[in-house]
Amino acid sequence: MFDEPGFPSAPDWEFAEITLQTFVYCSRAAEGIDDVEVARIVEFSQRRNVARGITGVLVFGSGVFFQWIEGPPAEVEKLIASLHGDTRHNDVVALDLSVEKRERLYPGWEMELVEADDIRTVLHDALDCAEDEKNVAALKRILQHLDTEPLASLGRN
Ligand SMILES: Cc1cc2nc3c(=O)[nH]c(=O)nc-3n(C[C@H](O)[C@H](O)[C@H](O)COP(=O)(O)O)c2cc1C
Repeated sequence: MFDEPGFPSAPDWEFAEITLQTFVYCSRAAEGIDDVEVARIVEFSQRRNVARGITGVLVFGSGVFFQWIEGPPAEVEKLIASLHGDTRHNDVVALDLSVEKRERLYPGWEMELVEADDIRTVLHDALDCAEDEKNVAALKRILQHLDTEPLASLGRN
């Protein structure tokens, strides 16, 4: 009976739309930040993000960070403040900052480290799976930004 047109289907909490703040940025790693230090950042972030309900992706390559953060607005605001004061990177450039009611793009990732060469694949995969039109628009904006300012060239300065 619930499959009949006009009847709502059973709620699927896993894909529920919630109010999420998104913060996407690029930054330049400080002198001396290597793969070992990045692994430390990721380990700390994963523990902290679980507690805060934050998910996302961190990309590191050519001395540049690219991070997609999504979570409850109050928690994301706290993290943004911490990121701006973190001396392990400089020149934090915000690419996207928005608050929307939508599904999470990376529901199972409390902060996944991705190789720089893979970032386009990650974003294109997300774009292929995205049904929410706001997610599609945000992903297209980021891909467009990557096309105009490739990560590798950012890291060379
Ligand atoms: C590139 C980069 C990414 C980071 N990502 C996160 C993150 O996802 N979550 C997190 O809690 N801290 C992250 N941190 C660490 C924060 O900047 C900060 O050191 C940490 O949240 C502790 O902040 P607090 O002392 O203000 O509580 C990151 C740091 C860097 C340099």
